[in-house]
Amino acid sequence: MQIRKIKPFHKDMLIALSKQNFKDESWSNEQLENAIQDDNYICIALLDDDDMLSYLIAVQTLDDINILSIATKKECQKNGYATMLIKWMINLCRQVDKTLSLEVKSKNSVAINLYTNIGFKKIHERKNYYRDGDTALIMFYDFTDKEHLS
Ligand SMILES: CC(C)(COP(=O)(O)OP(=O)(O)OC[C@H]1O[C@@H](n2cnc3c(N)ncnc32)[C@H](O)[C@@H]1OP(=O)(O)O)[C@@H](O)C(=O)NCCC(=O)NCCS
Repeated sequence: MQIRKIKPFHKDMLIALSKQNFKDESWSNEQLENAIQDDNYICIALLDDDDMLSYLIAVQTLDDINILSIATKKECQKNGYATMLIKWMINLCRQVDKTLSLEVKSKNSVAINLYTNIGFKKIHERKNYYRDGDTALIMFYDFTDKEHLS
């Protein structure tokens, strides 16, 4: 298994994985294809031979990397794959001296567990942020927390 940058020829696997996990809330095919080709985005995947097990899409600004989407193949979940991708991103942030942030639905307890276990802290809430009325939690990775050194 290897963590690799997602290339245009991976797009069908990326689209399938996004649709499997997000259903009608998935990014469109066009949005996913654009992200792969845009240098402002960082798109990585955990690949097993040619099989995409998990992916992470983030966007970078001058001082922050913001995780926009992360998903693991349903049949491969709970094996630490999403954690591996996030830790890769934490190391990148250390190298380029940027913060690492994300936004998550307050009802998505699985994702909140994942982020909290790794060392993200909630710093803000946006009520009624999503179309279904759910609250958005804004979380930042705490680079000063020694308990969660990655
Ligand atoms: C959230 C998601 C990406 C986690 O992927 P994963 O590869 O299974 O994650 P990991 O194996 O690295 O799990 C790490 C932690 O996440 C939490 N977690 C993962 N699956 C969980 C589950 N089914 N129930 C509760 N907690 C869970 C746990 O805290 C777990 O740590 P532990 O194994 O020590 O208990 C995956 O469940 C998924 O694709 N969900 C649908 C898409 C989504 O909601 N993405 C996030 C919003 S963009």
